Amino acid sequence: VEIVDEAGSTNALVAERARGGADAGLVIVAEHQTAGRGRLDRSWEVPPRAALTFSVLVRPTVEPAAWPWLPLLTGYAVHAALADRAEGIGLKWPNDLLVDSPKGPLKLGGILVERVETPTGPAAVLGIGINVHQTQSELPIPEAVSLEQLVEGVPDRTELLSVILGSLDALMPLLEDTESLRRAYAGECLTLGKEVRVDVPAGEPVTGTAIDLDAGGRLVVQTASGEVAVGAGDVIHVR
Ligand code: BTN
Repeated sequence: VEIVDEAGSTNALVAERARGGADAGLVIVAEHQTAGRGRLDRSWEVPPRAALTFSVLVRPTVEPAAWPWLPLLTGYAVHAALADRAEGIGLKWPNDLLVDSPKGPLKLGGILVERVETPTGPAAVLGIGINVHQTQSELPIPEAVSLEQLVEGVPDRTELLSVILGSLDALMPLLEDTESLRRAYAGECLTLGKEVRVDVPAGEPVTGTAIDLDAGGRLVVQTASGEVAVGAGDVIHVR
């Protein structure tokens, strides 16, 4: 585990090290990211030392069909590490960490998994950002929350990092049994059963009820014109 004071993006740093031949298990934590990246080309901005921002290098040896499960597995492992710290923590498909609250769902953390081609084969960078110490005004959107707002006392980022890494290590074998992962993930997924609108990268938004995950980890939405499986997109929980 390497800790740097400042990085553009820990995902970019780990990807560069992966291309240079770094071994699986490399973890880079940044006290401050100046160009943090989110899903769907968004930025991820956090005041220095307020969040836990880090990336993990993995080199999965599973069949190609299991790769799309990596982001979901990462979310599932982070969820497993944090779920008992506060009421209502769950997963929004594919891998946001959410907390259900009377105000509606609040975002506690996000995950960006990126595939990298390296001289020794494909690798993946698991980028994880958890809101830890932010006050409401330091959060990027009103629909976000930090762990400190949910628990008694001041959370310790080092302890959190250690528990999340332990959880990732323990649960990574699930990548070889994606049906068990599918069932386990579905049990923690707040999206299932909700009325959703999914803004997909190309085409019209998909609206309906999120009913299941298919064998490839896609979200199955019951729409007025039948079931649609969505592989990527931004989900809005309508109800
Ligand atoms: C999202 O919610 O859209 C995903 C956010 C992922 C943020 C983390 S912070 C550590 C890692 N480095 C990055 O540049 N992004 C991820």
